[in-house]
Amino acid sequence: MRAFVVTVGSDEVELASDVLWQLGVRAIEERRQPGALDLVELWTAVGDEPDATVRAKQRLGDRWPIRVVDVADDSADTWREFARPMWVDDGLVVVPAWQDHVFDEGVVAIAIEPGGAFGLGDHPTTLLSLRAARRHLGVGRTVLDVGCGTGVIAIMAAKLGGSSVRAVDVASAAVEATSDNAIRNGVADRIVADTTPAADLDGTHHLVVANILAPTLVELADDLRRLTAPDGRLVISGILADRHDHVVAALAPMVVEHTDVLDGWAAVTLGHPR
Ligand SMILES: C[S@@+](CC[C@H](N)C(=O)[O-])C[C@H]1O[C@@H](n2cnc3c(N)ncnc32)[C@H](O)[C@@H]1O
Repeated sequence: MRAFVVTVGSDEVELASDVLWQLGVRAIEERRQPGALDLVELWTAVGDEPDATVRAKQRLGDRWPIRVVDVADDSADTWREFARPMWVDDGLVVVPAWQDHVFDEGVVAIAIEPGGAFGLGDHPTTLLSLRAARRHLGVGRTVLDVGCGTGVIAIMAAKLGGSSVRAVDVASAAVEATSDNAIRNGVADRIVADTTPAADLDGTHHLVVANILAPTLVELADDLRRLTAPDGRLVISGILADRHDHVVAALAPMVVEHTDVLDGWAAVTLGHPR
């Protein structure tokens, strides 16, 4: 297992952590060096694939020094002990796949094992995306999850009646995790996951969800608009509550129908103009 270490000024911890969370990391440990109190090391994991490290470095840019350190597998996995079920609402919960929980009858539980993919599915933007997407799910709906990560959104869509769900991600580890989690949750017959770029996807979907960093959403805007059915909805997250006008502008003429906010993050639901 490899640790991804970003050294930042103590006044930039929050900013750098936000970017790392959006890359989908599971946990970030802050380490201070005794001789350099104005510097903080953020220790995390972005996945062991060389591509994942390259992409994370590109996203962080050259603003902060980054190094990759080999660490023992067991120490890298301590976050698993602290993982907890995440309630999306009263009837829907995301559960770490390695834990045993019993829920009341009627509760829909989604078991997630991140594997080599980023994120457990408990980031505020994931929760916002799940809640916003849920409003537009139903029997027979077709759904596209762009940047599927662990597959948690795609799996919710399939469990709540989606007839066909397409999940794509640039990271092959994410596609593998999504496929494994689809099997684990008994919905593999309705989810197709692969690394097809959004630009190469055809057709339209009742619901398109993309929880990805704002610069990527801007890059993908034309495709996200094209892939949303005329009467469909697009849910975007991964954007800051007070700084996402440029992303909405890139999606014009789509119009904002709803904005949900949690912990400084937003999820915006858009539709085509009537
Ligand atoms: C913040 S994670 C979201 C994961 C999951 N959808 C969730 O909500 O928990 C963003 C994901 O987008 C993927 N990603 C980044 N750029 C992408 C692109 N251009 N096309 C498809 N996926 C992308 C990343 O590999 C990562 O898995």
